Amino acid sequence: SAEDGSQLWLRFPAKNGISADKIIFKGNNPTLNIARKELMNHWQGQEIELRTDRSLKNLKGGYKIQSVQNKLVISAEKEIGLLYGVYHILRLQQTKLTTTNINIIEKPSYDVRILNHWDNLDGTIERGYAGHSLWKWDDLPNKISPRYEEYARANASIGINAAVLNNVNASPNMLRKDYLEKVKVLADIFRPYGIKVYLSVNFSSPKVLGGLENSDPLNKDVQKWWKEKASEIYKLIPDFGGFLVKANSEGQPGPQDYGRTHADGANMMADVLKPYGGIVMWRAFVYSPSKEDRAKQAYLEFVPLDGKFRDNIIIQIKNGPVDFQPREAFNPLFGALKKTPEMVEFQITQEYLGHSNHLVYLAPLFKETLESDTYSDGRGSTIAKITDGTLRPSKISAISAVANIGEDKNWTGHHFAQANWYAFGRLAWNHDLTSEQIADEWIKMTFTDNEKFLNPVKEIMLTSRETVVDYMMPLGLHHIFAGGHHYGPEPWGDYKGGRPDWSPVYYHRADAQGVGFDRTKTGSNAVSQYFPPLNETYGNIKTCPENLILWFHHVPWDYKMKDGKTLWEELSYKYDTGVKNVRDYQKFWDKMQPYIDEERFAEVRSKLTIQAKDAVWWKDACLLYFQTFSKMPIPYDIEKPV
Ligand code: GCU
Repeated sequence: SAEDGSQLWLRFPAKNGISADKIIFKGNNPTLNIARKELMNHWQGQEIELRTDRSLKNLKGGYKIQSVQNKLVISAEKEIGLLYGVYHILRLQQTKLTTTNINIIEKPSYDVRILNHWDNLDGTIERGYAGHSLWKWDDLPNKISPRYEEYARANASIGINAAVLNNVNASPNMLRKDYLEKVKVLADIFRPYGIKVYLSVNFSSPKVLGGLENSDPLNKDVQKWWKEKASEIYKLIPDFGGFLVKANSEGQPGPQDYGRTHADGANMMADVLKPYGGIVMWRAFVYSPSKEDRAKQAYLEFVPLDGKFRDNIIIQIKNGPVDFQPREAFNPLFGALKKTPEMVEFQITQEYLGHSNHLVYLAPLFKETLESDTYSDGRGSTIAKITDGTLRPSKISAISAVANIGEDKNWTGHHFAQANWYAFGRLAWNHDLTSEQIADEWIKMTFTDNEKFLNPVKEIMLTSRETVVDYMMPLGLHHIFAGGHHYGPEPWGDYKGGRPDWSPVYYHRADAQGVGFDRTKTGSNAVSQYFPPLNETYGNIKTCPENLILWFHHVPWDYKMKDGKTLWEELSYKYDTGVKNVRDYQKFWDKMQPYIDEERFAEVRSKLTIQAKDAVWWKDACLLYFQTFSKMPIPYDIEKPV
């Protein structure tokens, strides 16, 4: 049959699992029933016992799988842990790993593992490249798409347990009664799969929706409005997760409109959610057009507020301080808040990484952030340890990512973009997994375990992130995208009269001397926001990692790089390497035809053609543009711009 990719990684043997009498469990619960159905449909191994065991509370939603005589016992504090355990053994079966004599204990790295959908009520998706929204707001609450449950199942299979349904640029209408009734339907479908629903809220809702005079968080009427809204929500959705808030950023309303702080705004919302166990994820992605380096703004806003937030608030911080670039230095706000829980926001949707046309496997990017040592509490203070509760014990730990899911048959536009949804879920569950382990698993589950396919494809995936950095923005260059859509290159972009902080020239600062953003003491001094020794390491051109050199320094064109090349030559070779790698991917992929279905083979092939063309476009545009400053020749052995 045609292979449209709709099954994702859930390609278990069909409908020939074990019989009902081989599944031992007590009780009748919707989650257990799903677990049982999955086993009966797909599990071909030994007898299984599913056991809830309240003493396993310390596994925090995790589970145990043990071989006991000739059966497998899955135990967990809660039913959802049992379902996760079932997906675990199905994964072992699918990837042909042993399911006998096992003794597995799994405990998730984070309590809340959440997807952020940037879906609008009109069905469009901000930065979505896989079609329209899955949520059919006009059909709900009566007509129910089968994809709601398929979505929940896919998430549960990788441990994702939460979803923000709507865009951070939130419509106040999201909180309207009729929309909440629609949300309730989704929450009811997701619940047995262990997924809690959250909503992005617009700070001006009391004024816009409630007709109040303002939305000032210190106004009693405003507080009352939110209190009543919370009560209305929890009547419909008793396990509602909470709010995600983008305030005072990119023109969104917020507490600062009334001279209040982010803490004032967040606390007001936290107070109304608190009685129900809800939380507030307050975004640190705040910046406004000002003289201050955009990369410094989140830190400047939030560090003075440390300690002022209620304990059911988490500050949600993008991995980098600018905006989901192919490579950024990590956000210096991580670790800088000592008394306030922090969580990472990644972007799975490839806003700045070739949309759904480029094959870019994101696990290495996610890992790079999580493993970054902030030195906030001495050596070893990685972002993983700051956010997972190891170094900042907090009531709740969380990790989020902007989803790449839409109504395309294959869910994510590019078949390989499914791997990024998968990788986020797996890392949110266990951030110690390596990019390679996850790629290996995903390929085997999604395509085949034939090594002739597995090895080259894994190689493509594992190098793909560095490749996109090379052909788009090597050596720490950033935000030289064409305005608005962020797809192609526009390093010459200078939006005079518009916002300078949205102009590519603001970020690369090329001139006759060199290129790069001086963020040292002689420049914006963003380096001072990093803990020692990083402030020195980044601040000194000799010790700054070369892959971030243009992020932190304005570097002369003839500067000698570690390999002896000049900066200009290095830049040229990087762009060229990026292009060459994509050409290699095309050659590798062409040899993969015998191992997989024609449909996915052909679709990936045509996407690689686009990617190769785009890589050349990036290389030529950037080199020819930067050459107008460097006035140096393009090295003879690289492909000439056409
Ligand atoms: C980026 C993106 C916007 C988005 C914003 C955010 O700037 O381009 O579309 O709204 O991030 O994360 O809030």
